[in-house]
Amino acid sequence: MQRPAFLVAARTANNPRSGIREIFTLANDKAARGETVYKLMIGVPDVKTPDTVIDGTIAALKEQKTQYTANAGIAELREAIARQVNNAHGLSVEADQVIVVPGAMAGLLFANLTIDPGNRILVPTPGYPNYKMQAGLTGLELLHYRLGIQNEFQPDLDELESLLDSAGAPIGAILINTPGNPTGTVFNEETIIGIARLAEKHGVRIISDEVYKDIILDAGLEHISPAKYAPDLTLLVGALSKKYSMTGMRVGFLIVPKHAIKDTEVLGEATISCAPSICQWGGVAALEGDQSQVEGYDAQYRQRRDAIVEILAAADMNFTRPNGAFYLMVDIGDAGLSSRDFALRLLEEKGVGVAFGSDFGPIDPEHPLYAECDRLVRIAFCSGSMDELRVGTERLCEFYREQCA
Ligand SMILES: Cc1ncc(COP(=O)(O)O)c(C=O)c1O
Repeated sequence: MQRPAFLVAARTANNPRSGIREIFTLANDKAARGETVYKLMIGVPDVKTPDTVIDGTIAALKEQKTQYTANAGIAELREAIARQVNNAHGLSVEADQVIVVPGAMAGLLFANLTIDPGNRILVPTPGYPNYKMQAGLTGLELLHYRLGIQNEFQPDLDELESLLDSAGAPIGAILINTPGNPTGTVFNEETIIGIARLAEKHGVRIISDEVYKDIILDAGLEHISPAKYAPDLTLLVGALSKKYSMTGMRVGFLIVPKHAIKDTEVLGEATISCAPSICQWGGVAALEGDQSQVEGYDAQYRQRRDAIVEILAAADMNFTRPNGAFYLMVDIGDAGLSSRDFALRLLEEKGVGVAFGSDFGPIDPEHPLYAECDRLVRIAFCSGSMDELRVGTERLCEFYREQCA
């Protein structure tokens, strides 16, 4: 039967789908058949949601805090978020700049909606695949900037400048993601300052995806937000999802410059009404409560990172040691397989699930950065036991060696 045309808009029908989900589904099918699967493909922490969050949410439920909240969220949470970013990252944010949203995804969507359709948006490559999907939905054209493995996935400011100068539709924003998914790279301070200066010079926004800002794996290293250097141009997107292992509770935020408060009020009002009320109270408990439980999680991620790095280094693999989030990219380019085929066969033959690099690259296989992304696979080390991570990584190295032989 022919599909009625009114059900299919080009922005949904032509939108790319997540390759991570593809591998995830295949891995789950395999596990359901009783086969052993090492799931290193998905960024969902398996540590427990802290007790403080559970208690805070249940208390809100018992107190019947179950109705709509203000569109931008409850004052207590907006204040707690402003306090947290000011104390932890040296910002000067006031609570009325904070819009509480259902997860960072909604914050990113809102940020895109501040840009006129038809504009271009600079996105990190390799980068989180949902940036491409959201650009498609909001009518923005993608302009990919390179995060190369040889530069430890730090962006090149000269390249950014030449893209900003390139002919074409107006550029609405530079999107950055630090610490990064899929790279695990924390952008250094000079880079952030450079991006802030470029944004000022060219009059573009910075959409700063900081969903991993509180997961820093090296002592002495600091997360730097561009909101510190270009507060009037930065739309800061964050969430409690990863740090507090509460991805399903959908508590995220968008911090807008003071001059944009009025203009962005409509976003929540017209779309979500508000983030889930009881989860917002859980969010207050997360930020204001005892942090000792989550501090232990960082130590676990660090331990897992170190174990994987040791195995990859011993196997002489080309990779970069991540210093934030819980992802790591490995170069499998010499295996003679596309990254997708590598991931599919690795799952089939060795029972190891990883995300494939082309999923984090441009949609167009002819784009010069596609081939670079297609040399990579991503290991996520936020779930599974140390043994599973070790065996999974060893099997990946073994499979790679077999293909290269
Ligand atoms: C880079 C990046 N941004 C945003 C998100 C979405 O976060 P949330 O679950 O809070 O919507 C993710 C989730 O994996 C991510 O990796």
